[in-house]
Order: sequence, then structure tokens, then C-alpha cells
Amino acid sequence: MNARRDSILREMGLGPIWRLRGAPGDEADAFDPANEQAPPDTSVEEAPAVVAPVVDAQVRPREQPLRAESPAPAPQPARERSPAVNADAVGGMGWDELTQEILACKACRLCEQRRQAVPGVGDRQADWLFVGEGPGAEEDARGEPFVGKAGQLLDAMMSAIGIKRGDNVYIANTVKCRPPANRTPEVEELAACFPYLARQIALIRPRLIVALGRPAAQSLLNTDIRIASARGKCFDYDGIPVVVTYHPAYLLRNPMDKAKAWEDLCFARREMARLAGGEN
Ligand code: URA
Repeated sequence: MNARRDSILREMGLGPIWRLRGAPGDEADAFDPANEQAPPDTSVEEAPAVVAPVVDAQVRPREQPLRAESPAPAPQPARERSPAVNADAVGGMGWDELTQEILACKACRLCEQRRQAVPGVGDRQADWLFVGEGPGAEEDARGEPFVGKAGQLLDAMMSAIGIKRGDNVYIANTVKCRPPANRTPEVEELAACFPYLARQIALIRPRLIVALGRPAAQSLLNTDIRIASARGKCFDYDGIPVVVTYHPAYLLRNPMDKAKAWEDLCFARREMARLAGGEN
């Protein structure tokens, strides 16, 4: 184990072996940087590169807005959809109304193939908010975010920094309905759904947001971004610090990058400790 990894493990207060205790074959889910090779700095991210300047969203450039000027809605499919989400109305909703609104939403084509919308789960007064991309098959079936394999890894990642689902943690997705075949949500789908996430954030007022993967980071920061360049920085969403890291599903496919995600979560934990004035 090299010195860097050793110090990460020490800082985490963890022994060198730390993995999910799941069924046989769960090795792929282990969040155990000690077992990973030191990742190369040039690893490829999950999403294809969109050619755009790499920016620190603290500067908030507006050349490529993702929300305000999202493209015209896609043509209406045969199945009826309702008009776009009324951001002003959603902005005034409490939890119950918001949840009902999300469950009934038909504002984009993602409603067409979902079994159910997946609003979010956890402590509504949490300090920590984790934002993923969108529900997968299991989440679509169960109505809860991150309950499949990626969710097991997310639980393990959270455990590595001493937090757990539902306990001072809220988990939400950028889009609330499953994209068919787990494809990446389209820009207009992200834009259509954003008022729901914005309202959740306004209601929770977490101390820190962790954006999991590129779509979540782009939606929150309203700018194009690459995880590899955005790691280790603190961005801002409406006065709330945002830290970005790799999406757990990406880490399942690219376990070499788990060590980087671990570093990111250590960074997030340090930020949280600073924000909480050392209480954490
Ligand atoms: N991936 C996500 O981004 N969200 C989920 O809820 C599950 C998998």
C-alpha cells in the first residue's frame, strides 16, 4: 500500500480491508481503494466528452446554459403529456404536495415508460444531500433511489465517511423517472425535472451537496463540466457548497477510479467538518 493510500485509510479511520458484506460475487461493489491500483490521472470519464471549456462553476459562465435556455421540447409522443413543470408553483410547495406532484408528473417523455417516479429518500433536514442521475430498473420498481448495485456501492461510500442513508443524509436524483434502458438523461429532461430538485434543496437546505456524476453536476451547476477536472473543488449552488465525484455506476465499471472517489469523499467530509465548525 503506498503512502498516499495509507494516509487516506488512516484519515478515514478504516482498516485496509473495507468492503460490502454481501452475497458472493459482490466484490465488484466493494469500495476498497486499498485493493485498487493507484489510478492513472488520465482515466476516462463515463460520459463522452462534450467539447466545452473546462470551468470552475464558481465563475458560473453562461455560454452553455442547461436550464434557462434548454432546447425546444421534443415532439409530443402519442401518449399524452402535461405541460412543463410550473417552476413557480413547485417553488412554493411543501413536501407532501411536492411528492404528489413528482409522482404524477408527465412533463417530459420519461413519464412514458416509468413504472413510478422516484422522488427521493432520507432525512428532510439532512446536512448531506447526494444527488444522482436518475432511477434505474430497481429504483423504478421500488420507488426509492439507489437501491440496486450502484446503490449498494453508494451506501458503502457513505459508510466510508461515517454517514448512512436516512441519517442526516438525503438522496435524490436529477431526473425522477427512469430513462429507458438507463440511458443518460437528455438536456431537456434534466431541465424539465430541475424545479423538483431545486425545491427539494430549498426545503432541505443541506450543508453540503455531493453531485454523483456528470449529469448531476451539470444540472446543479448549470454549466458543462467534466468530473475529472471538477474534483477537489468546492462549487456553489444557491449558497450551498457542491462537491463532485464519480457516479457509483461508473465506479462499478471502472473500479480503478474508486480511490479517486474516496479522495473526493474525504474532501467532502473535510468541507462538512469545516462548515459544521468542527462538530462533524
Ligand atoms: N443511479 C442513479 O443515478 N440513481 C439511482 O437512483 C440509481 C442509480
